[in-house]
Amino acid sequence: MEKFYVTTPIFYPTGTPHIGTAYAIFIADSLARYWRKQGADTQFLLGNDEHGANIAKKAAEEGLEPKAFVDKYAAKFKQVWNSLGITNNYFIQTTDPRHEEFAQDLLQKAYDNGDIYPGTYAGWYCSSCEAYITESDMVDGRCPNHPNKDPEWTEESNYYFRWSKYQDWLLDLYEKNPEFVRPERWLNYAKDMVKKGLNDIPVTRANVDWGVTVPFDEEQTIYVWYDALPNYLSYLHFNENIEDWQGYWQEAVHVVGKDILKFHAILWPAMLKSAGYPLPKTILTHGFFTVNNQKIGKSNNNAIDPQELSNKYGTDAVRYALLTEFQLGNDGDFSFERLESKYSSDLANNWGNLLSRVIHLVNSKQVTIDKTKVTPETNDHLQTVQDKYDHHFQAYEIFQAAQETNKLAAWGNQYINEHKPWEIDDTTQVEQILNDLWQVLELITELYEPILPASAAKARKALDKQEKTILFPKLT
Ligand code: MSP
Repeated sequence: MEKFYVTTPIFYPTGTPHIGTAYAIFIADSLARYWRKQGADTQFLLGNDEHGANIAKKAAEEGLEPKAFVDKYAAKFKQVWNSLGITNNYFIQTTDPRHEEFAQDLLQKAYDNGDIYPGTYAGWYCSSCEAYITESDMVDGRCPNHPNKDPEWTEESNYYFRWSKYQDWLLDLYEKNPEFVRPERWLNYAKDMVKKGLNDIPVTRANVDWGVTVPFDEEQTIYVWYDALPNYLSYLHFNENIEDWQGYWQEAVHVVGKDILKFHAILWPAMLKSAGYPLPKTILTHGFFTVNNQKIGKSNNNAIDPQELSNKYGTDAVRYALLTEFQLGNDGDFSFERLESKYSSDLANNWGNLLSRVIHLVNSKQVTIDKTKVTPETNDHLQTVQDKYDHHFQAYEIFQAAQETNKLAAWGNQYINEHKPWEIDDTTQVEQILNDLWQVLELITELYEPILPASAAKARKALDKQEKTILFPKLT
Protein backbone atom coordinates (compact mmCIF):
# COMPACT_ATOMS: atom_id res chain seq x y z
CA MET A 1 0.00 0.00 0.00
CA GLU A 2 1.50 3.33 -1.04
CA LYS A 3 -0.76 5.57 0.97
CA PHE A 4 -2.69 5.18 4.18
CA TYR A 5 -5.17 7.51 5.85
CA VAL A 6 -6.65 6.96 9.29
CA THR A 7 -9.09 9.07 11.27
CA THR A 8 -10.81 8.91 14.66
CA PRO A 9 -14.19 10.42 15.52
CA ILE A 10 -13.93 14.12 16.17
CA PHE A 11 -14.94 14.60 19.78
CA TYR A 12 -17.39 17.04 21.32
CA PRO A 13 -15.37 19.47 23.42
CA THR A 14 -18.14 19.34 26.00
CA GLY A 15 -16.81 15.97 27.11
CA THR A 16 -13.39 15.17 28.50
CA PRO A 17 -10.97 12.56 27.18
CA HIS A 18 -11.40 9.28 29.02
CA ILE A 19 -10.19 5.75 28.39
CA GLY A 20 -13.17 5.06 26.11
CA THR A 21 -12.24 7.92 23.80
CA ALA A 22 -8.52 7.20 24.12
CA TYR A 23 -9.23 3.67 22.87
CA ALA A 24 -10.05 4.92 19.34
CA ILE A 25 -7.00 7.16 19.43
CA PHE A 26 -4.68 4.26 20.32
CA ILE A 27 -6.21 2.03 17.64
CA ALA A 28 -5.67 4.70 15.00
CA ASP A 29 -2.19 5.53 16.25
CA SER A 30 -1.13 1.85 16.10
CA LEU A 31 -2.46 1.53 12.56
CA ALA A 32 -0.69 4.73 11.50
CA ARG A 33 2.57 3.56 13.03
CA TYR A 34 2.24 0.13 11.42
CA TRP A 35 1.65 1.51 7.93
CA ARG A 36 4.38 4.14 8.22
CA LYS A 37 6.73 1.32 9.10
CA GLN A 38 5.62 -0.50 5.96
CA GLY A 39 6.69 2.58 4.03
CA ALA A 40 3.17 3.86 3.31
CA ASP A 41 2.80 7.60 2.96
CA THR A 42 0.46 8.08 5.92
CA GLN A 43 -1.97 10.74 7.08
CA PHE A 44 -3.55 10.54 10.52
CA LEU A 45 -6.25 13.02 11.53
CA LEU A 46 -7.75 13.89 14.92
CA GLY A 47 -10.01 16.73 15.89
CA ASN A 48 -13.03 18.19 17.63
CA ASP A 49 -16.66 18.55 16.62
CA GLU A 50 -17.48 22.10 17.57
CA HIS A 51 -20.94 23.19 16.46
CA GLY A 52 -24.43 22.69 17.84
CA ALA A 53 -26.76 23.96 20.54
CA ASN A 54 -25.14 21.85 23.24
CA ILE A 55 -21.80 23.54 22.74
CA ALA A 56 -23.28 27.03 22.71
CA LYS A 57 -25.04 26.18 25.98
CA LYS A 58 -21.89 24.88 27.67
CA ALA A 59 -19.94 27.92 26.47
CA ALA A 60 -22.55 30.23 28.00
CA GLU A 61 -22.32 28.31 31.27
CA GLU A 62 -18.59 29.04 31.32
CA GLY A 63 -19.21 32.66 30.37
CA LEU A 64 -17.39 32.28 27.06
CA GLU A 65 -18.23 32.99 23.46
CA PRO A 66 -18.69 29.67 21.65
CA LYS A 67 -15.54 30.14 19.56
CA ALA A 68 -13.43 30.97 22.61
CA PHE A 69 -14.90 27.93 24.35
CA VAL A 70 -14.14 25.49 21.52
CA ASP A 71 -10.63 26.89 21.08
CA LYS A 72 -9.92 26.47 24.78
CA TYR A 73 -10.95 22.83 24.66
CA ALA A 74 -9.23 22.14 21.37
CA ALA A 75 -6.00 23.23 23.04
CA LYS A 76 -6.75 20.96 25.99
CA PHE A 77 -7.54 17.90 23.82
CA LYS A 78 -4.45 18.51 21.68
CA GLN A 79 -2.31 18.68 24.78
CA VAL A 80 -3.72 15.38 26.08
CA TRP A 81 -3.14 13.51 22.80
CA ASN A 82 0.29 15.06 22.50
CA SER A 83 1.30 14.01 25.97
CA LEU A 84 0.29 10.46 25.08
CA GLY A 85 2.70 10.52 22.15
CA ILE A 86 0.02 10.29 19.48
CA THR A 87 1.43 10.71 15.98
CA ASN A 88 -1.43 12.53 14.24
CA ASN A 89 -0.50 14.82 11.37
CA TYR A 90 -3.20 17.35 12.13
CA PHE A 91 -5.93 18.31 14.57
CA ILE A 92 -9.02 19.60 12.80
CA GLN A 93 -11.61 21.93 14.31
CA THR A 94 -14.94 22.12 12.53
CA THR A 95 -15.06 25.87 13.22
CA ASP A 96 -12.10 26.29 10.86
CA PRO A 97 -13.51 28.42 8.01
CA ARG A 98 -11.81 26.16 5.47
CA HIS A 99 -13.77 23.24 6.83
CA GLU A 100 -17.01 25.22 7.03
CA GLU A 101 -16.71 26.13 3.39
CA PHE A 102 -16.21 22.49 2.44
CA ALA A 103 -19.24 21.38 4.49
CA GLN A 104 -21.36 24.05 2.80
CA ASP A 105 -20.20 22.93 -0.59
CA LEU A 106 -21.03 19.30 0.18
CA LEU A 107 -24.57 20.25 1.17
CA GLN A 108 -24.92 22.50 -1.86
CA LYS A 109 -23.91 19.60 -4.10
CA ALA A 110 -26.62 17.39 -2.57
CA TYR A 111 -29.08 20.25 -3.08
CA ASP A 112 -28.09 20.69 -6.70
CA ASN A 113 -28.53 16.97 -7.15
CA GLY A 114 -32.17 17.21 -5.99
CA ASP A 115 -31.56 15.37 -2.71
CA ILE A 116 -32.53 18.24 -0.41
CA TYR A 117 -36.11 19.44 -0.01
CA PRO A 118 -37.96 21.68 2.47
CA GLY A 119 -40.08 20.08 5.18
CA THR A 120 -41.09 20.29 8.80
CA TYR A 121 -39.83 18.19 11.68
CA ALA A 122 -41.94 17.45 14.69
CA GLY A 123 -40.37 14.83 16.89
CA TRP A 124 -37.78 13.93 19.49
CA TYR A 125 -34.14 14.97 19.48
CA CYS A 126 -31.31 13.77 21.72
CA SER A 127 -28.95 16.72 22.07
CA SER A 128 -26.16 14.55 23.53
CA CYS A 129 -26.13 12.35 20.42
CA GLU A 130 -27.19 15.29 18.23
CA ALA A 131 -29.64 12.84 16.71
CA TYR A 132 -33.30 12.66 15.78
CA ILE A 133 -34.86 9.76 17.60
CA THR A 134 -38.16 7.98 17.23
CA GLU A 135 -40.29 6.54 20.00
CA SER A 136 -39.36 3.06 18.87
CA ASP A 137 -35.63 3.91 19.39
CA MET A 138 -36.31 4.94 22.98
CA VAL A 139 -35.96 2.86 26.11
CA ASP A 140 -38.28 3.98 28.91
CA GLY A 141 -38.94 7.20 27.05
CA ARG A 142 -35.25 8.12 26.76
CA CYS A 143 -32.41 7.80 24.29
CA PRO A 144 -30.75 4.38 24.78
CA ASN A 145 -27.30 6.03 24.77
CA HIS A 146 -28.27 8.72 27.28
CA PRO A 147 -30.65 7.23 29.79
CA ASN A 148 -30.08 10.10 32.24
CA LYS A 149 -31.27 12.77 29.89
CA ASP A 150 -34.73 13.66 28.60
CA PRO A 151 -34.98 13.91 24.83
CA GLU A 152 -36.25 17.25 23.56
CA TRP A 153 -39.49 17.65 21.66
CA THR A 154 -38.58 19.66 18.56
CA GLU A 155 -40.71 21.34 15.94
CA GLU A 156 -39.12 23.30 13.14
CA SER A 157 -39.16 23.98 9.42
CA ASN A 158 -35.99 22.78 7.81
CA TYR A 159 -34.57 20.89 4.86
CA TYR A 160 -34.55 17.14 4.52
CA PHE A 161 -32.00 14.85 2.89
CA ARG A 162 -33.39 12.08 0.69
CA TRP A 163 -31.73 9.31 2.62
CA SER A 164 -34.40 6.80 1.60
CA LYS A 165 -33.28 7.12 -2.01
CA TYR A 166 -29.97 5.46 -1.10
CA GLN A 167 -31.38 2.40 0.64
CA ASP A 168 -30.87 -0.11 -2.19
CA TRP A 169 -27.60 1.45 -3.21
CA LEU A 170 -26.29 0.99 0.36
CA LEU A 171 -27.36 -2.65 0.52
CA ASP A 172 -25.65 -3.22 -2.78
CA LEU A 173 -22.51 -1.49 -1.47
CA TYR A 174 -22.34 -3.76 1.61
CA GLU A 175 -22.92 -6.81 -0.58
CA LYS A 176 -20.26 -5.98 -3.16
CA ASN A 177 -17.80 -4.42 -0.79
CA PRO A 178 -17.93 -6.13 2.60
CA GLU A 179 -14.64 -4.40 3.51
CA PHE A 180 -16.61 -1.18 3.82
CA VAL A 181 -17.55 -2.01 7.41
CA ARG A 182 -15.25 -4.06 9.64
CA PRO A 183 -15.35 -6.32 11.64
CA GLU A 184 -18.05 -8.35 9.95
CA ARG A 185 -20.55 -8.30 12.80
CA TRP A 186 -20.85 -4.54 12.34
CA LEU A 187 -21.34 -4.90 8.60
CA ASN A 188 -24.26 -7.17 9.38
CA TYR A 189 -25.55 -4.67 11.89
CA ALA A 190 -25.47 -1.88 9.29
CA LYS A 191 -27.19 -4.12 6.75
CA ASP A 192 -29.97 -4.97 9.17
CA MET A 193 -30.50 -1.33 9.99
CA VAL A 194 -30.80 -0.37 6.34
CA LYS A 195 -33.11 -3.30 5.64
CA LYS A 196 -35.52 -1.97 8.26
CA GLY A 197 -35.91 1.05 6.01
CA LEU A 198 -34.40 4.53 5.89
CA ASN A 199 -36.45 7.64 6.46
CA ASP A 200 -35.35 11.01 5.11
CA ILE A 201 -33.84 13.21 7.83
CA PRO A 202 -33.62 16.94 8.43
CA VAL A 203 -30.11 18.18 7.69
CA THR A 204 -30.57 21.80 8.61
CA ARG A 205 -31.69 23.48 11.84
CA ALA A 206 -33.93 26.51 12.09
CA ASN A 207 -33.32 27.28 15.75
CA VAL A 208 -29.65 26.52 16.27
CA ASP A 209 -27.50 29.59 15.73
CA TRP A 210 -24.12 28.06 16.55
CA GLY A 211 -23.57 26.25 13.28
CA VAL A 212 -22.51 26.62 9.66
CA THR A 213 -24.87 28.72 7.57
CA VAL A 214 -26.86 26.77 4.99
CA PRO A 215 -25.65 28.03 1.60
CA PHE A 216 -29.11 28.12 0.02
CA ASP A 217 -31.00 29.51 3.04
CA GLU A 218 -29.21 31.92 5.34
CA GLU A 219 -31.86 31.55 8.04
CA GLN A 220 -30.76 27.99 8.71
CA THR A 221 -27.62 26.25 9.95
CA ILE A 222 -26.31 22.85 8.89
CA TYR A 223 -27.27 19.88 11.11
CA VAL A 224 -24.18 19.10 13.14
CA TRP A 225 -23.57 15.59 11.73
CA TYR A 226 -23.81 16.91 8.17
CA ASP A 227 -21.09 19.37 9.15
CA ALA A 228 -18.98 16.92 11.24
CA LEU A 229 -18.65 13.93 8.92
CA PRO A 230 -17.08 15.95 6.07
CA ASN A 231 -14.09 16.80 8.30
CA TYR A 232 -12.40 13.62 7.09
CA LEU A 233 -12.48 14.87 3.54
CA SER A 234 -12.19 18.63 4.04
CA TYR A 235 -8.77 18.14 5.63
CA LEU A 236 -7.46 16.39 2.52
CA HIS A 237 -8.75 19.30 0.43
CA PHE A 238 -7.63 22.31 2.44
CA ASN A 239 -4.18 21.04 3.37
CA GLU A 240 -2.00 22.62 0.72
CA ASN A 241 0.68 19.97 1.18
CA ILE A 242 -1.67 17.27 -0.01
CA GLU A 243 -1.75 16.98 -3.75
CA ASP A 244 -3.31 13.62 -4.39
CA TRP A 245 -6.32 13.59 -2.03
CA GLN A 246 -7.89 10.68 -3.88
CA GLY A 247 -4.83 8.53 -3.22
CA TYR A 248 -5.37 8.89 0.53
CA TRP A 249 -9.12 8.76 0.30
CA GLN A 250 -9.27 5.35 -1.33
CA GLU A 251 -7.20 4.00 1.57
CA ALA A 252 -9.09 5.90 4.27
CA VAL A 253 -10.03 4.05 7.46
CA HIS A 254 -12.44 5.73 9.87
CA VAL A 255 -12.09 4.34 13.38
CA VAL A 256 -15.48 4.78 15.09
CA GLY A 257 -17.40 3.53 18.10
CA LYS A 258 -20.40 1.28 17.57
CA ASP A 259 -22.78 4.00 18.78
CA ILE A 260 -21.92 6.21 15.81
CA LEU A 261 -21.76 3.44 13.22
CA LYS A 262 -25.11 4.48 11.78
CA PHE A 263 -23.81 7.92 10.88
CA HIS A 264 -20.59 6.59 9.40
CA ALA A 265 -21.74 3.46 7.61
CA ILE A 266 -25.17 4.62 6.45
CA LEU A 267 -25.40 8.41 6.35
CA TRP A 268 -21.85 9.35 5.33
CA PRO A 269 -21.67 7.16 2.17
CA ALA A 270 -25.07 8.48 1.08
CA MET A 271 -23.90 12.09 1.60
CA LEU A 272 -20.77 11.39 -0.44
CA LYS A 273 -22.64 9.63 -3.20
CA SER A 274 -25.13 12.47 -3.42
CA ALA A 275 -22.33 15.02 -3.75
CA GLY A 276 -20.47 12.91 -6.32
CA TYR A 277 -17.48 11.91 -4.18
CA PRO A 278 -15.94 8.44 -3.96
CA LEU A 279 -16.14 6.51 -0.69
CA PRO A 280 -13.50 5.87 1.97
CA LYS A 281 -12.23 2.30 2.27
CA THR A 282 -13.39 1.11 5.67
CA ILE A 283 -15.45 2.05 8.70
CA LEU A 284 -13.56 0.25 11.44
CA THR A 285 -15.97 -0.19 14.32
CA HIS A 286 -14.97 -0.75 17.91
CA GLY A 287 -16.98 -1.68 20.96
CA PHE A 288 -17.29 -0.08 24.36
CA PHE A 289 -15.24 -0.20 27.52
CA THR A 290 -16.84 -0.37 30.91
CA VAL A 291 -14.81 0.33 34.04
CA ASN A 292 -15.18 -2.32 36.71
CA ASN A 293 -18.21 -3.44 34.73
CA GLN A 294 -19.91 -0.08 34.94
CA LYS A 295 -20.80 2.21 32.05
CA ILE A 296 -18.30 5.08 31.79
CA GLY A 297 -19.91 8.35 32.69
CA LYS A 298 -20.08 11.32 34.95
CA SER A 299 -22.86 9.77 37.00
CA ASN A 300 -20.63 6.80 37.85
CA ASN A 301 -17.66 9.08 38.42
CA ASN A 302 -15.41 6.66 36.52
CA ALA A 303 -14.32 8.63 33.46
CA ILE A 304 -10.66 7.77 34.04
CA ASP A 305 -8.32 10.38 32.62
CA PRO A 306 -5.88 8.67 30.22
CA GLN A 307 -3.21 11.22 31.04
CA GLU A 308 -3.36 10.49 34.76
CA LEU A 309 -3.27 6.80 34.02
CA SER A 310 -0.28 7.28 31.79
CA ASN A 311 1.54 9.36 34.41
CA LYS A 312 1.11 6.51 36.84
CA TYR A 313 1.87 3.48 34.64
CA GLY A 314 3.49 4.85 31.50
CA THR A 315 1.64 5.28 28.22
CA ASP A 316 2.58 1.86 26.88
CA ALA A 317 1.00 0.12 29.85
CA VAL A 318 -2.22 2.02 29.08
CA ARG A 319 -2.00 1.23 25.36
CA TYR A 320 -1.43 -2.42 26.18
CA ALA A 321 -4.32 -2.55 28.64
CA LEU A 322 -6.75 -1.03 26.13
CA LEU A 323 -5.57 -2.63 22.90
CA THR A 324 -5.22 -6.16 24.21
CA GLU A 325 -8.19 -6.55 26.50
CA PHE A 326 -10.52 -7.88 23.79
CA GLN A 327 -10.81 -8.24 20.04
CA LEU A 328 -11.58 -5.09 18.11
CA GLY A 329 -15.35 -4.87 17.61
CA ASN A 330 -16.26 -6.48 20.94
CA ASP A 331 -17.05 -4.84 24.26
CA GLY A 332 -15.04 -5.35 27.40
CA ASP A 333 -13.99 -4.11 30.77
CA PHE A 334 -11.12 -2.06 32.12
CA SER A 335 -9.84 -2.52 35.64
CA PHE A 336 -6.66 -1.48 37.41
CA GLU A 337 -6.14 -5.08 38.51
CA ARG A 338 -6.16 -6.30 34.89
CA LEU A 339 -3.82 -3.53 33.79
CA GLU A 340 -1.39 -4.40 36.54
CA SER A 341 -1.58 -8.15 36.11
CA LYS A 342 -1.05 -7.96 32.36
CA TYR A 343 1.76 -5.48 32.85
CA SER A 344 3.52 -8.02 35.03
CA SER A 345 2.72 -11.23 33.18
CA ASP A 346 2.98 -10.14 29.53
CA LEU A 347 5.33 -7.19 29.65
CA ALA A 348 7.68 -7.25 32.65
CA ASN A 349 7.93 -11.02 33.17
CA ASN A 350 7.79 -12.00 29.54
CA TRP A 351 9.34 -9.50 27.12
CA GLY A 352 11.24 -7.47 29.74
CA ASN A 353 12.59 -10.59 31.39
CA LEU A 354 13.75 -12.13 28.12
CA LEU A 355 15.50 -8.94 27.10
CA SER A 356 17.48 -8.58 30.32
CA ARG A 357 18.36 -12.28 30.51
CA VAL A 358 19.68 -12.41 26.96
CA ILE A 359 21.64 -9.16 27.12
CA HIS A 360 23.14 -10.24 30.43
CA LEU A 361 24.24 -13.62 29.01
CA VAL A 362 25.57 -12.16 25.77
CA ASN A 363 27.74 -9.81 27.80
CA SER A 364 28.88 -12.27 30.44
CA LYS A 365 29.65 -14.98 27.87
CA GLN A 366 31.20 -12.43 25.50
CA VAL A 367 29.16 -13.57 22.54
CA THR A 368 29.47 -11.82 19.19
CA ILE A 369 26.11 -11.02 17.68
CA ASP A 370 25.82 -12.14 14.11
CA LYS A 371 22.46 -12.39 12.51
CA THR A 372 23.65 -14.93 9.96
CA LYS A 373 24.19 -17.35 12.82
CA VAL A 374 20.56 -18.16 13.37
CA THR A 375 19.40 -21.77 13.08
CA PRO A 376 17.01 -22.50 10.20
CA GLU A 377 14.38 -23.73 12.71
CA THR A 378 14.39 -20.43 14.57
CA ASN A 379 14.39 -18.53 11.33
CA ASP A 380 11.35 -20.44 10.14
CA HIS A 381 9.58 -19.80 13.38
CA LEU A 382 10.31 -16.07 13.18
CA GLN A 383 9.05 -15.96 9.62
CA THR A 384 5.81 -17.69 10.60
CA VAL A 385 5.25 -15.25 13.44
CA GLN A 386 5.98 -12.27 11.20
CA ASP A 387 3.51 -13.51 8.58
CA LYS A 388 0.74 -14.10 11.09
CA TYR A 389 1.34 -10.71 12.67
CA ASP A 390 1.19 -8.90 9.32
CA HIS A 391 -1.93 -10.76 8.37
CA HIS A 392 -3.59 -9.67 11.61
CA PHE A 393 -2.48 -6.07 11.42
CA GLN A 394 -3.65 -5.74 7.86
CA ALA A 395 -7.03 -7.07 8.94
CA TYR A 396 -7.09 -4.48 11.78
CA GLU A 397 -6.68 -7.28 14.33
CA ILE A 398 -4.41 -5.47 16.75
CA PHE A 399 -5.37 -7.69 19.67
CA GLN A 400 -4.32 -10.82 17.75
CA ALA A 401 -1.13 -9.17 16.47
CA ALA A 402 -0.14 -8.33 20.05
CA GLN A 403 -0.98 -11.87 21.11
CA GLU A 404 1.36 -13.31 18.47
CA THR A 405 4.13 -11.05 19.75
CA ASN A 406 3.49 -11.97 23.35
CA LYS A 407 3.58 -15.65 22.36
CA LEU A 408 6.93 -15.12 20.67
CA ALA A 409 8.36 -13.68 23.90
CA ALA A 410 7.04 -16.73 25.77
CA TRP A 411 8.63 -18.93 23.10
CA GLY A 412 11.95 -17.17 23.71
CA ASN A 413 11.71 -17.65 27.46
CA GLN A 414 10.92 -21.32 27.01
CA TYR A 415 13.84 -21.69 24.59
CA ILE A 416 16.28 -20.18 27.06
CA ASN A 417 14.91 -22.31 29.91
CA GLU A 418 15.24 -25.48 27.87
CA HIS A 419 18.69 -24.77 26.48
CA LYS A 420 20.17 -23.32 29.69
CA PRO A 421 23.06 -21.50 28.00
CA TRP A 422 24.45 -20.48 31.42
CA GLU A 423 25.29 -24.14 32.11
CA ILE A 424 27.09 -24.71 28.81
CA ASP A 425 30.83 -24.35 28.34
CA ASP A 426 30.99 -25.02 24.61
CA THR A 427 31.39 -21.54 23.08
CA THR A 428 29.99 -22.41 19.65
CA GLN A 429 26.89 -23.87 21.22
CA VAL A 430 26.38 -20.85 23.49
CA GLU A 431 26.87 -18.50 20.55
CA GLN A 432 24.29 -20.41 18.59
CA ILE A 433 21.66 -20.27 21.32
CA LEU A 434 22.20 -16.60 22.13
CA ASN A 435 22.22 -15.56 18.50
CA ASP A 436 18.90 -17.32 18.03
CA LEU A 437 17.51 -15.51 21.04
CA TRP A 438 18.92 -12.21 19.89
CA GLN A 439 16.97 -12.44 16.65
CA VAL A 440 13.85 -13.34 18.61
CA LEU A 441 14.32 -10.10 20.54
CA GLU A 442 14.97 -8.13 17.39
CA LEU A 443 11.69 -9.32 15.96
CA ILE A 444 9.69 -8.77 19.16
CA THR A 445 10.97 -5.20 19.23
CA GLU A 446 9.93 -4.63 15.62
CA LEU A 447 6.52 -6.16 16.12
CA TYR A 448 5.73 -4.26 19.29
CA GLU A 449 6.80 -0.91 17.83
CA PRO A 450 3.35 0.16 16.52
CA ILE A 451 1.62 -1.03 19.69
CA LEU A 452 4.14 -0.12 22.42
CA PRO A 453 6.33 2.53 20.79
CA ALA A 454 8.14 3.86 23.86
CA SER A 455 9.09 0.41 25.13
CA ALA A 456 10.15 -0.69 21.66
CA ALA A 457 12.41 2.37 21.41
CA LYS A 458 13.95 1.52 24.78
CA ALA A 459 14.46 -2.11 23.78
CA ARG A 460 15.97 -0.99 20.46
CA LYS A 461 18.50 1.12 22.29
CA ALA A 462 19.37 -1.70 24.68
CA LEU A 463 19.91 -4.10 21.78
CA ASP A 464 21.97 -1.60 19.81
CA LYS A 465 24.19 -0.81 22.76
CA GLN A 466 24.10 -4.34 24.18
CA GLU A 467 23.35 -2.76 27.50
CA LYS A 468 21.04 -4.19 30.11
CA THR A 469 17.88 -2.23 30.77
CA ILE A 470 14.77 -2.59 32.85
CA LEU A 471 12.11 -2.39 30.21
CA PHE A 472 9.14 -2.49 32.60
CA PRO A 473 10.03 -1.35 36.11
CA LYS A 474 8.17 -2.93 39.00
CA LEU A 475 4.93 -1.14 39.74
CA THR A 476 4.95 0.57 43.09
N1 MSP B 1 -18.77 14.21 17.70
C1 MSP B 1 -19.25 12.90 17.52
C2 MSP B 1 -18.43 12.15 16.50
C3 MSP B 1 -18.38 12.80 15.16
S1 MSP B 1 -17.38 11.95 14.05
C4 MSP B 1 -17.66 12.71 12.58
C5 MSP B 1 -19.19 12.16 18.84
N2 MSP B 1 -18.36 12.68 19.75
S2 MSP B 1 -18.14 12.14 21.24
O1 MSP B 1 -17.29 13.09 21.89
O2 MSP B 1 -19.38 11.84 21.85
O3 MSP B 1 -17.22 10.89 21.12
C6 MSP B 1 -17.77 9.74 20.90
C7 MSP B 1 -16.75 8.67 20.61
O4 MSP B 1 -16.24 8.12 21.82
C8 MSP B 1 -17.50 7.58 19.89
O5 MSP B 1 -16.72 6.95 18.90
C9 MSP B 1 -17.80 6.64 21.01
O6 MSP B 1 -18.00 5.34 20.55
C10 MSP B 1 -16.55 6.76 21.86
N3 MSP B 1 -16.80 6.33 23.22
C11 MSP B 1 -17.52 6.97 24.18
N4 MSP B 1 -17.57 6.17 25.28
C12 MSP B 1 -16.87 5.04 25.06
C13 MSP B 1 -16.57 3.90 25.80
N5 MSP B 1 -17.01 3.74 27.02
N6 MSP B 1 -15.81 2.95 25.21
C14 MSP B 1 -15.31 3.09 23.95
N7 MSP B 1 -15.60 4.15 23.21
C15 MSP B 1 -16.38 5.13 23.74
O7 MSP B 1 -19.88 11.16 18.98
